[in-house]
Formats: sequence, structure tokens, C-alpha cells
Amino acid sequence: RNFKRQMECRSDIERLNAPFLAIYESLIPAEEEKTKQKQLLTSLEKLVNKEWPKAQLFLYGSCANSFGVSRSDVDVCLAIDDTETSKSEILLKLADILQSDNLQNVQALTRARVPIVKLMDPVTGISCDICINNVLAVVNTKLLRDYAQIDARLQQLAFIVKHWAKTRGVNETYRGTLSSYAYVIMCIHFLQRRKPAILPCLQGMETTYAVTVDDIECSYFDRVENLRNFGSQNKESIAQLVWAFFDYWAYRHDYANAVISVRTGSIIRKHEKDWTRRIGNDRHLICIEDPFEISHDLGRVVDKYSIKVLREEFERAANIMQYDPDPCAMLFEPY
Ligand code: GTP
Ligand code: MG
Repeated sequence: RNFKRQMECRSDIERLNAPFLAIYESLIPAEEEKTKQKQLLTSLEKLVNKEWPKAQLFLYGSCANSFGVSRSDVDVCLAIDDTETSKSEILLKLADILQSDNLQNVQALTRARVPIVKLMDPVTGISCDICINNVLAVVNTKLLRDYAQIDARLQQLAFIVKHWAKTRGVNETYRGTLSSYAYVIMCIHFLQRRKPAILPCLQGMETTYAVTVDDIECSYFDRVENLRNFGSQNKESIAQLVWAFFDYWAYRHDYANAVISVRTGSIIRKHEKDWTRRIGNDRHLICIEDPFEISHDLGRVVDKYSIKVLREEFERAANIMQYDPDPCAMLFEPY
């Protein structure tokens, strides 16, 4: 497993561009879906502001980071400046308010790792999770959205990788595989490290946007409209990138020592972060640094069983991309 294959991309790879682009396009949500999400947010704002006039609602996650495929859930953050009331009490109160409106299946999950209220809007059929004061998630959502503006290949690659992960059952954090957020970070890092680079390292550039959230300073270059040509020296097509992405995670990534870091646009060592051994439940078997919460390994959920599943899936995908006559059919075959 550790020997590095010196393998070239298959000679007919360009033939696969059209089918991959067709899959990407089929996953893009319709405008009408976005409109419905906005409507739901507006009606939630009205209800929330009756009880808490100064509270604000923000969208985060895939409905706001440009990596949402159609029929995704809506993630909402309630920003509320109330130091008296505990998060659980706020969530229970919120559930109460929403319940008495005509929303369905309102549930407060106060003991979850990220406590939320879940609900379903019967008018639009949209499911929605509301968390409290998770401002960092709103900020990393903006970072992802900003990266997506720079080169269209990021959105294409991330949609295909997320779709692959969902159909292959490796996008389930409760079963030890990776979150959608982690996969998008992997795609950004991968494109930062192509030669020539397809994406820059925004956190390594001049600061044009800065906020401090829970003592974490989040700053980066966000004038991305000036970076629209950044990746134009690199002519790699989407099929080539999908091939190289899986080849990297199957055969080239140094799982024993390397941490991928979008913050620095490079690989850093596990030693530098003291991520060499298991601490509590964090095993660091695949290391993905969060761009802002740098002590946070997005791969922490992966355990000694799921790492095997994950690496076998990367190898399967890499082999399909290398040898299969009809990779699009096989890659997304339900497990
Ligand atoms: P889908 O719902 O699968 O389409 O994707 P999603 O982009 O909504 O992803 P996910 O449910 O994984 O995460 C939602 C948002 O929560 C992300 O965009 C992040 O803002 C935030 N988030 C998720 N996991 C983490 C994490 O481990 N650390 C941090 N800091 N934020 C996270
Ligand atoms: Mg989501």
C-alpha cells in the first residue's frame, strides 16, 4: 500500500468529461428550490423575532456554501445575545414557538454534539436544522463560498465527490466516515496543490476580511472577484481531476505523517500538531485541519474500522477511474 505508483492517467480520459459534467449539472439545485429556502428563512425570522426581537438568523452549510446539491437540508444558525438563558432552554423555547406554528416534526435535540432543533416545513417539504450561536460555521461557510467563486472546477469536483461519498455510504460521521464539509475541504486542498495551482491559499494572502469568533481570529483575502483567472494556467479537465483526486487519496497521501491544511495551502506534519497518537476519541487516522479551528481534525470521527472502509473506497474509485470502460456507472453504484 505504501509504494507510490507512478501511474499515468488513462489515455481516453477526455472522453469522460461530458458524462461527468452531465452528472454535475443534474445535481445543481433548481432556482425554485433556492426561492423556497429563502421563503422558509423569512417565515422563521418572523416567528423568532416575535420572541427575541434582536436575534438574527443565518444560513450556513450546503444551502449557503455553493456546495449544496438539490434537495439538501437547510442549516440555520440563530444568533442570539442572551447570556442568562442556557442553550438548551433557548432550544426548547424555540421548539415551542415553531411547534405552535404549522411546522411539522419539530424536535429539540439538546443532547447532541451540536444541539439543534429539527423541523420540516409541510408547505415546501424542506427539512431544516437550527443551531444556536454557531458563528464559526457561518464564517467557514463564507470561506467555502468564496473559494467556489474562483474556479468552476471546484464546484464540479466537490459535487462529484460528495455524490460519490453519499452513494458509497462514506458520508456518515456517526458511522466513522467523513462529513460533507470535510470532503469539500479535501477538494479545496487538492486544487491548491495542483501544478500549476487551480486555487490560491486565501488565508495566506492579504487580509481583506476579519472576524474574531470565540477567541479564534478568522481572516483571509475575500476579494475573490479579482481572482477569477487564478487557475487559468492549469488546463486540467474535470475528468482528469476526479481521476487525480482519487489517485491521491488511494495511493499518494501519507496517512502516517501528513495533515492536509487549506489554511497554509500545504501538507503539514502530524508531529507539528501533536496529532501522532490517540487522545480521547480523536484518533487522527486521516488528518484534515479545519481552516479556522486549527486544533480541530475533521478526520477525528474516523476509527480503525472506518479508515479501512474509507481507504478501500478511495482505492476502488481510483481503480475504476483508471481501468473501467464506463467509470460513471461504476463509481456511483450504490453499495
Ligand atoms: P450536506 O448537507 O451533506 O449537503 O452538506 P453540508 O455542507 O451542509 O455539510 P455538513 O452537514 O457536513 O456541515 C454543515 C456545516 O457545518 C458546514 O458547512 C460547516 O460550516 C459546519 N461544520 C460541519 N462539520 C464541522 C466540523 O467538524 N467543524 C466545523 N468547524 N464546522 C463544521
Ligand atoms: Mg447540511
